[in-house]
Amino acid sequence: LTPAPHLSCLCPGPGAGQEVQTENVTVAEGGVAEITCRLHQYDGSIVVIQNPARQTLFFNGTRALKDERFQLEEFSPRRVRIRLSDARLEDEGGYFCQLYTEDTHHQIATLTVLVAPENPVVEVREQAVEGGEVELSCLVPRSRPAAVLRWYRDRKELKGVSSGQENGKVWSVASTVRFRVDRKDDGGIVICEAQNQALPAGHSKQTQYVLDVQYSPTARIHASQAVVREGDTLVLTCAVSGNPRPNQIRWNRGNESLPERAEAVGETLTLPGLVSADNGTYTCEASNKHGHARALYVLVVYDPGAVVEAQTSVPYAIVGGILALLVFLIICVLVGMVWCSVRQKGSYLTHEASGLDEQGEAREAFLNGSDGHKRKEEFFI
Ligand SMILES: *[C@@H]1O[C@H](CO)[C@@H](O)[C@H](O)[C@H]1NC(C)=O
Ligand SMILES: *[C@@H]1O[C@H](CO)[C@@H](O)[C@H](O)[C@H]1NC(C)=O
Ligand SMILES: *[C@@H]1O[C@H](CO)[C@@H](O)[C@H](O)[C@H]1NC(C)=O
Ligand SMILES: *[C@@H]1O[C@H](CO)[C@@H](O)[C@H](O)[C@H]1NC(C)=O
Repeated sequence: LTPAPHLSCLCPGPGAGQEVQTENVTVAEGGVAEITCRLHQYDGSIVVIQNPARQTLFFNGTRALKDERFQLEEFSPRRVRIRLSDARLEDEGGYFCQLYTEDTHHQIATLTVLVAPENPVVEVREQAVEGGEVELSCLVPRSRPAAVLRWYRDRKELKGVSSGQENGKVWSVASTVRFRVDRKDDGGIVICEAQNQALPAGHSKQTQYVLDVQYSPTARIHASQAVVREGDTLVLTCAVSGNPRPNQIRWNRGNESLPERAEAVGETLTLPGLVSADNGTYTCEASNKHGHARALYVLVVYDPGAVVEAQTSVPYAIVGGILALLVFLIICVLVGMVWCSVRQKGSYLTHEASGLDEQGEAREAFLNGSDGHKRKEEFFI
């Protein structure tokens, strides 16, 4: 027994008698919904509010159904207002506002419960390796209406492929995206964003995914000092990269063995009390399952005789200084010339009379002043 909604009461005129009027309501799951039955020319008749199962919630202002989530907020000659907190999907349906006069009036407020998406779950199909492709999936198991999923990388949208499945009243939505990856993408951030009408305007749920791209190692040696003399202690550091990170670094000297005093601990090789016999090409090596890297360092230990040699090379420094000064002066002269040419060609009037066929007219227009002419400025750099 579900009589059709009474719509004529939307425009009550004089003498229309008592009327009840209501509106549809939309609420997000877990939120608060207010259902209002507006009364017109109320004369004290009984007002009944029923839930979609046609159970009476309130009988003329008195609670009839024991569900504390429903509260009577207002009962005045103008309206009856009830409040539903913690709205659930099963609360959906038509709520009846009924007015018992000789001629029973009722109207139905349809309550719609939307479900906002939770933060999406982002997963990778298989381990990404440089030069290959990565496939990411983004899943939102519950939303109503079906959430729209979007992918972003460096603020640019990526094209994903979405699919949805309806489970009862809610949707399960997924999206996948594929793209090529390089070693520089390791650690990069990809965002999956979910949006639907249950979220406030402009809001979305986002999940960041940090790309994990495996790549072969690189190695570089840094020395603790540039010039090495006898007796010095030199520390060589082997900076390695790679994903997975190489867990072992091997130090060698050409095809000779390392000096006995040398101490290799992880990334560093310490060579104390250097003597010229320590000369040689030192290497550090690292590898992971994707490759191998090696860096070289040529050690030349200077003896005191070499220091004297270094002093004789001082005139070269002076010649270098003079050359640098000359280059600087030439640059100054060039800059000066460019500056002068800019000032000369700085600004002038252009005559761009279009549609003036005759020379006389054109000249007249030119002499008539600059009103119709644009002042043009051009700079030459
Ligand atoms: C209220 O919702 C019902 C059911 O969805 C619909 O038939 C009716 O037209 C809606 N009324 C208004 C005023 O939007
Ligand atoms: C219904 O409730 C209203 C407001 O409390 C009251 O004025 C009216 O007399 C009640 N009607 C009946 C029939 O009890
Ligand atoms: C090291 O090996 C290279 C070739 O692998 C060879 O030419 C060179 O003579 C060797 N040096 C010494 C000191 O054995
Ligand atoms: C090490 O290199 C320095 C500079 O070239 C040279 O003077 C010295 O004789 C070298 N020592 C050995 C053992 O090769």
